[in-house]
Parts: sequence; structure tokens; C-alpha cells
Amino acid sequence: MDMVVKTASFGISGIDGYLVEVEAAAVKGFPRIDLVGLPDAAVKESKDRVTNALSSCGLTIPESHITFNLAPADIKKEGPIYDLPIAVNLMRLGGTIRVEPKDCAFVGELSLNGEVRGVNGVLPMTIKARELGYRRMFVPLSNSAEAAVVDGIEIYAVKDILALRDMLNGLVPLVPVKPAQTKKHAENGFVPDFSQVKGQYEAKRALEIAAAGSHNILLIGPPGSGKSMLAKRIPSILPDMSFEEMIETTKIHSIAGSLHSDGLIDVRPFRSPHHSVTAVGLGGGGSNGIRPGEVSLAHNGVLFLDELPEFMRSALEVLRQPIEDSRITISRAGQSCTYPCSIMVVAAMNPCPCGYFGDDTHRCTCSQHKIRSYLNKISGPLLDRFDIHIEVPPVKFDELRSDEVAECSAEIKKRVDAAREIQRERFKNSKTTSNSRINAAELSKFCLIDKEAENVLRSAFEKLSMTARAYDRVLKVARTIADLDQSVVIRSYHVLEAVQYRSLDRKYWNA
Ligand SMILES: Nc1ncnc2c1ncn2[C@@H]1O[C@H](COP(=O)(O)OP(=O)(O)OP(=O)(O)O)[C@@H](O)[C@H]1O
Ligand SMILES: [Mg+2]
Ligand SMILES: [Zn+2]
Repeated sequence: MDMVVKTASFGISGIDGYLVEVEAAAVKGFPRIDLVGLPDAAVKESKDRVTNALSSCGLTIPESHITFNLAPADIKKEGPIYDLPIAVNLMRLGGTIRVEPKDCAFVGELSLNGEVRGVNGVLPMTIKARELGYRRMFVPLSNSAEAAVVDGIEIYAVKDILALRDMLNGLVPLVPVKPAQTKKHAENGFVPDFSQVKGQYEAKRALEIAAAGSHNILLIGPPGSGKSMLAKRIPSILPDMSFEEMIETTKIHSIAGSLHSDGLIDVRPFRSPHHSVTAVGLGGGGSNGIRPGEVSLAHNGVLFLDELPEFMRSALEVLRQPIEDSRITISRAGQSCTYPCSIMVVAAMNPCPCGYFGDDTHRCTCSQHKIRSYLNKISGPLLDRFDIHIEVPPVKFDELRSDEVAECSAEIKKRVDAAREIQRERFKNSKTTSNSRINAAELSKFCLIDKEAENVLRSAFEKLSMTARAYDRVLKVARTIADLDQSVVIRSYHVLEAVQYRSLDRKYWNA
């Protein structure tokens, strides 16, 4: 019997995994198990789950005083991930496992009867294990698809503790999990496409610009005008994800435990949280360990806030910094972690509680006061963060009845892709990824405007009493419009169109 054994496992910090070494030392004495190395409550419960699992499977628990140490000791370890390495150590000390599992790592929770349950964060853990040179990773069956995404390390899916014993003792052949074939887009059923939206040419144009530069966009209009319908079709015109983007987005979903797909997320996320979502739900955090919020789950994709004024103000204000920084830092009980959130924010709203303020076809029944307090739910700084404001009027009857086939998403996407190609070239020596994220230092370098355009911009700035942030954003939108036009210099008509997308705050908010 070994007296000291060591098994590799992994923890999560931010969006990355880190090595946790689970060491166990057995000495003669009254049989008991101690855990040291800052374990949280869940790790303490591990002890009970593991001993229960082993005995219910008829496996020996060594009759000695065993001390477990989880290293490094200075990082707070969370969750039930360490059940499996703890069980492996006990089985080795008890003589159930007779071979030392070299270059192997283990993660997984145990149920009382010895089944292995899924845990969060297996993808980043596996990436780290490969980086550190581990050759084999034993993971819960339900996490095996995400782990198998990683090249250069063998993944073994573990169903229960007895299966693990047999695998490690060489009683069953070891068959690594094969990576799932990535399957782009929904394979069956309905795919939202812009061809299904009749008319609405202005709104579609604005959405194309937003997609081309990854600009935040706000849609305002009466009930039933098609705002939600339009927003849901945005992912169909966004550029394809790069492999790095897929990995990063999947990592976040792995950590949040919201990975439903097999393996990699290869389609940009479209997150549409209900307006009852809390600040923690939107930004991240939580009382039981820090979890990514909706802003991070939408990373590299779209965060859609439908019925914007219905959201809690406290939740919306959480968005302000991350929208600007593309990442969010969450602090809780002395712990802090940062998640990426490079997102395009799309919001939709009615202009007033009844929905018909400013509409020609219906009478608005709201009082001035009610309209004002409704619109004021959106703070000035938040409103400023939407680069493009667009009105979505009800579709005209003739357009709805027309047989004209509207342009499909694939055609729009071609133009978006071309504009993104220009941006890739523009930002090849910069950290910036799209026009919407051009920083202050780059603004004058990348947003060259001609004299006439500058005049247009100046008069708009004065007439619309724009804030400095609104001014910057108009310039960035003009940059995107010029890119769609394959124009190196920003011309006056590009600026004019961009300015037009900022005139609604005047119509509604500053009326
Ligand atoms: N331009 C359009 N072409 C085809 N169908 C449309 C169009 N506009 C609206 N519709 C139809 O009307 C329905 C309602 O649209 P949608 O739910 O997007 O409206 P909305 O603007 O989000 O309304 P609300 O403010 O009430 O949320 C759509 O599901 C669709 O069937
Ligand atoms: Mg709607
Ligand atoms: Zn109204």
C-alpha cells in the first residue's frame, strides 16, 4: 500500500483552468479523513460523498488516518470537482487501484451511489491540462464532448466509479472520446432569415451597418412593427466565428454550466434575457461562487434586450462599463474575476407605455408625464452607448401583401463580410477588433474625413447638442458606412447618414 499518493485535477480562475494537486497521506491511527488547503464547504462535503460512493460500490476504504491536501493552498477551491481525484487517491491507498495513473488528470463529482456527475468548466481545464503536458484526462460522460474539442490530449468519459477502477486497472480497453463533428447552424427546422421580413428597408439598412461594424443598436417602434423579428435575424448576417472566438465563447458557457451543444459553440450567441433579469444575472456574480452573466454568455455575439424600459434600472446600469470595455470584473467576498464580453448590444422598445407615441395610425393614450417617466428609465449615458437609433414603423399593408421576395440574409452577409475584411486589415497591428471599438488614440488615424464631412459633423454636433461620446460614436458609424461603400475617406454623405441615426434621442428624449 502506498502511504503518500498524488493525483492531478483542475480548478477554474476567470476563464482559465489551473492545476490542483490532490495529495493524500495515510498514517496508522484512528480511521478518519481530513482535508486541508482552503477547501470550501462543497469540498468538505466531498469527503462524505466519496466515502459513501466507495462503500456503496463495495470498495475498500483504508482503515487509517488519511490527510488530503489540495495544492496550491492559496487559491480558494470551489465546487464538487475534486470528488473524482479524491476517490482515485482513496482507491490507491486502499489497494483497489494497483497501477499509478501517470500523466493523467481527473475531474468530476460523485453521487452517493458512485455515479460520476458533470461539472462546470471542463473545457478550460482540459486546455490547461494539455498545456501542462498531461496525456489523459478522465471526465464525466456529460462533459466529454466539450473536453474532446481539445487536440493533443486523450479524453476518457467516466460513467461511474467502478468503470473508472476497471479502466485504471487495465481490465477494460481504454477508448478515447472522438471529437464531435462541428455542425454549423441549426440542422433542422426554421432558420430566421431577413427574406422573411417584408419592407422595412431603412431598418434593415441600419442593422446591416450595425452588423458590419459591431455597433450597438436601439430599435424604437409601436407594438407589432417587427422589432423583435428583425433583431432575431441579426446573427444570420454576422461574420462567421473564428476558431479562437469559438473556443473563448465555449469556455464561458462551460464555466457557466450552460453548454447544451455537443462540443464547440460555432454559431455566434444570441442571448435574450427576460426583462426581469437581475444585475447579477446580467453582469455575473452570485452567492454560490462567481458565474458569468448574460453579458459574458453573449461574448462574441449579440445581447438582445427586448422591451428595454422594462428592465430594472440597477441591471441596466451594470452594463455601462462592460459595453465600453468588452470585459467585466466581478468582485465578491474577497474574490474577483474578469470575464470577456465583446458583444453587440441590440435593444428594442416602444416609445411610450401604450406604444403609439409618434405613430400616425394610432392615437397615443399616454399622458406627457407617463411618456417622460417611461423614456427616462433609459439613462442618458446608456442611451449614448447605442451608436445607432432607428425607428421601426408598422409595415405598410401593400408591402406586407407584396409578392416581392426580400433580400436574403446570405446576400446581406456578403457585404458585411467585405466591410469586416477592410476592418481586419485596418486593425491588423492593433487590439481593436471592429470599428465600434476604435479607441480615442486611433480615432483620428482611422477616421479620416474630408472638409465637407467635417462641416456636416460640426453643425450636427451643435444642432443636436451631442455629447463627446455621441460625437465619437457618430464618427465610428460613419467609418463603417464608408467601409460598406468601399471608401477609404469618410465623405459628407456617410456622416449625414450616421448623424441621422442619432436624431431620435432628439425626437423622443429631448422633445
Ligand atoms: N415586416 C414584416 N414582414 C413580415 N411579417 C411581419 C413584419 N412585421 C411584423 N410582422 C409580423 O408581426 C409579428 C409581430 O412582430 P414583432 O413581434 O417583431 O413586433 P414587435 O415590434 O417586437 O412588437 P412589440 O413592441 O409588441 O414587442 C411578427 O411575428 C410577424 O409575424
Ligand atoms: Mg417585441
Ligand atoms: Zn402612448
